[in-house]
Amino acid sequence: MLVAPSLLSCDFADIKNEIKTVSSADMLHLDVMDGHFVPNISIGIPVVQSIRKATDMILDCHLMISDPEKYIPQFAKAGADIITFHVEAVEDCGKVIDMITELGVKPSISVKPNTPAEELFPYLDKLYMVLVMTVEPGFGGQKMIPQCLEKVKILKEEISRRSLNVLVQADGGINDETLEKTVESGVDVAVLGSAVFAQKDRNSYIEKIQKM
Ligand code: DX5
Ligand code: ZN
Repeated sequence: MLVAPSLLSCDFADIKNEIKTVSSADMLHLDVMDGHFVPNISIGIPVVQSIRKATDMILDCHLMISDPEKYIPQFAKAGADIITFHVEAVEDCGKVIDMITELGVKPSISVKPNTPAEELFPYLDKLYMVLVMTVEPGFGGQKMIPQCLEKVKILKEEISRRSLNVLVQADGGINDETLEKTVESGVDVAVLGSAVFAQKDRNSYIEKIQKM
């Protein structure tokens, strides 16, 4: 399984060193919140730009924002490698995917816990990744809604049925208690925020999960 630590749980005043403590990960997950699409505010474009200067790791930007198409060019310019937007936040997903691809960034779409996985089916052949939220987006450290992992299975089945090559990512509440069922769901990329940053030796913890 690939591991994407979410910097939402890091010490933002010491971000350069915090990134080094998770350098064995496959990508860095950056949670962008606007206080409108979700009831919380986190980081934005200037922080992504600074992180880009601090590391060569893959930057996986999870946009929990309304009207993502307004800001996607700036996130691309700031150095995002993957941009995930929410299906619930846009009118025309196809148009937004094309925009991301044309900017030379890998496109991905996310579904909130109450949105069916099937809403992503029409776009699978144009996507690099899909993100299944396993908590309501907005906050780190929440308890997983385990039923959401069913959507991982549904998406994995559809992707393999159509012989596509799309990664399935799960995000929210993944920790020692829920890791086993997360692996069982067949997910390709696990996002972990609080569980990773609570560790003394974060890199070994990540390496342990990569072997699962
Ligand atoms: C929630 C974010 C997640 C979250 C993960 O809105 O998208 O990335 O921070 O954190 P944990 O692993 O603590 O649930
Ligand atoms: Zn996230």
